[in-house]
Amino acid sequence: MSSEPSNDAAGISGVLLASETHFLQVIEGKFEDVNTLFRRIFRDDRHSEISIISFSVIDARLFHGWGMRGIGTFNLNKEIESKLVEKYGAEEGGIRFPLEEWKTLSLINDIKLTGDLPPWKI
Ligand SMILES: Cc1cc2nc3c(=O)[nH]c(=O)nc-3n(C[C@H](O)[C@H](O)[C@H](O)COP(=O)(O)O)c2cc1C
Repeated sequence: MSSEPSNDAAGISGVLLASETHFLQVIEGKFEDVNTLFRRIFRDDRHSEISIISFSVIDARLFHGWGMRGIGTFNLNKEIESKLVEKYGAEEGGIRFPLEEWKTLSLINDIKLTGDLPPWKI
C-alpha cells in the first residue's frame, strides 16, 4: 500500500521516518486535510501510543514536493546511522526519534542533508 496518491490528492506533504520501533511523521497541509488524515492514521492498528509532538499554523511548507516521503532509518548507511545515534541517542540499536519539535526537524534535516534517503513505504 502507498499513501502517496491519497496524500497528493489531499494536498498533503510531509515525511515519514520509520525505525525498528517507531514512526516519526510530519504532515503538512490545510487544517481540515491534516485533521482528516490524522483521524485516519489514528485508527490504523499498525501502530499505537500515538503522541502529537506539535500542531501549528505554518506559513510555508518544509516538505513541498515530497509527497509523504518514507525513509527507513534502519537502512541508512551505517556510518551515517552511527553519527546520528551519537547525536540523538539509541533505541533498539537504531536512532532514537526525539520528542521535541526542534529536535525532530533537526534529525530530519540531518538525514535530508546526507542525501542517503533509503525509501520505505507503509
Ligand atoms: C505511521 C503511519 C503513517 C501513515 N501515513 C499515511 C499518510 O500519510 N497518508 C495516508 O493516506 N495514509 C497513511 N497511513 C495509512 C492510514 O492509516 C490508512 O491505512 C490509509 O490512509 C487508508 O485508510 P482507509 O482504509 O480509511 O481508506 C499511515 C499509517 C501509519 C501506520
